[in-house]
Amino acid sequence: MSRLVFVLNGPNLNLLGKRQPHIYGHETLADVERDCRELAVELKLELRFHQSNREYEIIDWIHEARETAGAIVINPAAFTHTSVAILDALNAFDAPIVEVHISNVHQREEFRHRSFVSLRADGVIAGLGTQGYLLALRHVARLIDAA
Ligand code: DQA
Repeated sequence: MSRLVFVLNGPNLNLLGKRQPHIYGHETLADVERDCRELAVELKLELRFHQSNREYEIIDWIHEARETAGAIVINPAAFTHTSVAILDALNAFDAPIVEVHISNVHQREEFRHRSFVSLRADGVIAGLGTQGYLLALRHVARLIDAA
């Protein structure tokens, strides 16, 4: 199985570290990318790390992953709760998918309790801060190793 993993981030995550730090913490997305890349070296994974505020770009990356990747780690941000289009794209991807949320969405507003993406994700990590990305990478690396 391909050792390429796509780490995809949805809208407003470009503001990580500046936006509502009491909820999302002080680390920036660049910090998260650096930590993911360091771990990827240890796990012998190749990474594509992307963020977009545009739904179609995330869909296009999922389509690209479909041709090339062994797993997807995705924090769809607000699209989690709204996007049937991202769910449909993920449904066309045949390898493992882990959904990550920095905050514990279940402790927050009612509208965040519903995730379209969870209908497809093999696992969901929420509320562990940015560590969730690293745990997700460790999980998919194990699955890829075992395949
Ligand atoms: C988030 C939770 C979403 O509800 C929110 O819209 C985000 C970030 C998280 O990582 O905790 O933008 O996905």
